[in-house]
Amino acid sequence: MDLCIIGSGYVGLVSGACFAEVGHHVICVDNDPRKLTALKSGQIPIYEPGLEDLVKRNVAAHRLHFTGSIGEAVEKSQVVFIAVPTPPQPDGSVDLSYIERVAREIAGVLKPGEYRVVVDKSTVPVKTGDNVTDTIKRYAKPGVEFDVVSNPEFLREGCAVADLMKPDRVVVGSNSDRALNLMKKIYEPFMAPIIVTDVNSAELIKHAANSFLALKISYANALSAICEASGADIEKVVDGIGSDKRIGRHFLNAGLGYGGSCFPKDIAAFIAIADQLGRPFTLLKEVQRINREQKERFIQKMRDALWILRDKKIAVWGLTFKPDTDDVRSSVAIDLVNDLCREGAHVTAYDPKGMEKAVEFKLIPASVKLAKSPLEAVDGAEALVLATEWREFKEVDLTAIKARMHTPLVFDGRNLFDPATMKELGFNYRCIGRPAMETR
Ligand code: UDX
Repeated sequence: MDLCIIGSGYVGLVSGACFAEVGHHVICVDNDPRKLTALKSGQIPIYEPGLEDLVKRNVAAHRLHFTGSIGEAVEKSQVVFIAVPTPPQPDGSVDLSYIERVAREIAGVLKPGEYRVVVDKSTVPVKTGDNVTDTIKRYAKPGVEFDVVSNPEFLREGCAVADLMKPDRVVVGSNSDRALNLMKKIYEPFMAPIIVTDVNSAELIKHAANSFLALKISYANALSAICEASGADIEKVVDGIGSDKRIGRHFLNAGLGYGGSCFPKDIAAFIAIADQLGRPFTLLKEVQRINREQKERFIQKMRDALWILRDKKIAVWGLTFKPDTDDVRSSVAIDLVNDLCREGAHVTAYDPKGMEKAVEFKLIPASVKLAKSPLEAVDGAEALVLATEWREFKEVDLTAIKARMHTPLVFDGRNLFDPATMKELGFNYRCIGRPAMETR
């Protein structure tokens, strides 16, 4: 089928490449000329495993194209996906102005007698589809035929290509059989179950899913505080509850809290949506509070061990919001580095993929030193903080690490290491929701 995707960010680019991979003809649109030039020459602006090969292969096969023109793309496509940003506003509600502008532009190029399906893939508040429909009707020529569909995206950064090629389910919200049949044809090659709903329900599913996942994380983090106060072990507790199929073990990993470009924004948006609908979702405010508190408790643990953080030499491993991505947006690791610097600590950081963007977007103070390796980062350090659970850190030679540190004190914010092994190696080891290991 002939498809276009307006917005070549994370969701747009990965979706476009995957649609092309299964045989569709895809035009990806973006209004950033620099990004377009890079994409056309095979340069991918994000680090996402498998994406570069996918893009290059499908560009070479002439199934994937890039343009700056919405008019050209809509003219050549039966189905038009919208995947533009929906950033948060200061009060947590969603800024829908990019969606509105794109809807107006689409309206301007629709031709009477040529049916088009307009699909919203961006994460939007419930009822956005109605507003997109009204906007297109208001700005289009009389007699144009179109339907608006909601098709939320559930990909995770770091495994986006795999998530898209083999989705657990595809959600299609449509109030029209004609549009639904085209959507089913697009997704047929992916051989995934298709959940068909009305437009409002599909929009709600996305916010409800992300909020539930964040709730699971905050539940585990709140439990970790109780484990610390009682001497229980969070890892055993979550294994114990997670093996009940009704609960499930996924997304119960206690740590420094959730971050990234989706969860913090989507939970705030869902709270704002519920407020606007006159049905306040106070449970989600607790989810946010627990998430904030988790990082605060961690820093308090550091103060308890180091007393004063000012002028302490601290190594931080990890800057990205999770492993296997170069994304440092809304990363708890970045917040932590800033908090430590504010308290006067001398921070040396290392991250396998995130250092460039952290510097480019000025997310960490200029005083933070960047190391070339995990080993270099701990040179002379009075403490090591593990903030993101990259595999590289799991495989590091801990004996060499201990030898390079001034004091063998480790704060593991992601429970990456085994406490007994750490003790055996002579570390003072503090982690999340498990007893501290002292070697004094
Ligand atoms: C998330 C959703 O998973 C995805 O379906 C949606 O489309 C976008 O938002 P993403 O933000 O890429 O995806 O990352 P995810 O793997 O979900 O992790 C989000 C955050 O939660 C990370 O900071 C991660 O460290 C944290 N997390 C995750 C935990 O702290 N504990 C867990 O058990 C799982």
